[in-house]
Amino acid sequence: MIFAAGSSDNSAVQNEPSNLYDQTVEQIRQYVEYLRDEGTRELELDAESARRLLNKTPAVAPKPVPPSAKPMQTSPPPPRVAAPPAQPTINAVEAEKALREVAKRVSVCTLCPLHQTRTKTVPGQGSSHPEIMFIGEGPGADEDQQGLAFVGKAGQLLTKIVEAMGFKRDEVFIGNIVKCRPPDNRVPLPDEMTACLPYLKEQIALLQPKVIVALGATAVKGLLNTQTGITKLRGQWMSYQGIDLMPTYHPAYLLRNPDGKRDVWEDMKAVLEHLGRTPPPVKKQ
Ligand code: URA
Ligand code: SF4
Repeated sequence: MIFAAGSSDNSAVQNEPSNLYDQTVEQIRQYVEYLRDEGTRELELDAESARRLLNKTPAVAPKPVPPSAKPMQTSPPPPRVAAPPAQPTINAVEAEKALREVAKRVSVCTLCPLHQTRTKTVPGQGSSHPEIMFIGEGPGADEDQQGLAFVGKAGQLLTKIVEAMGFKRDEVFIGNIVKCRPPDNRVPLPDEMTACLPYLKEQIALLQPKVIVALGATAVKGLLNTQTGITKLRGQWMSYQGIDLMPTYHPAYLLRNPDGKRDVWEDMKAVLEHLGRTPPPVKKQ
């Protein structure tokens, strides 16, 4: 059957969903509203899904959540309801559109408590077909104000690293494990990272970078679930979703420990070699 995108009903957006079922329906609703805003007027749905979306009453009564079960009952991983096709054949225009769509869903995301204290969401930015995707920890104060990843002091250092590698900033993609700023720049909690990770996975699937550079311990932990420290892991090739991943130090760490720059430069040279590129002549980090 055809579901015609009609007028907006924001009541469910305003009332925070309280369980996984409601969150799933809410995500679908937001996606349908997004499609409507983009100009889509029709959507093919089977009758049962349409009925569930139009009726806010769950077909199956959701299980009650014990009040003391977990500190973060409102943050299970986002359902992958609106996952764009992740074929390697996706063209740049489609990828850009799908990336904007991910960013749009992020902008209204309430899946973890970090949404309560954010100013702007920071979905990440850059090329939609980058050779390299850099992944940091999470937005800081500047990023939270501007809605852009790595624009503060650490970001300026990252720009230098990117340029020393022979790229412009907008030729790579720069993002984070969590898209909302943790209060006081604390490290994101494991549940927050788990809640946010599906967005990053979608981005990676769309971007199809040749190499991921994981910046710092949190990025590596968030992606690879390892407890091994960054000092041990840095410089060693790993793999995430079939994409070669190079762990290295976070630029904020380099601001405090400039000696680490030499190691990061070694790691970036390994990345360049892996990409069949020659490091540009000495512009040492
Ligand atoms: N640190 C990060 O990990 N990410 C940013 O976007 C900025 C600082
Ligand atoms: Fe949603 Fe991620 Fe922000 Fe948490 S950090 S509210 S999961 S976008």
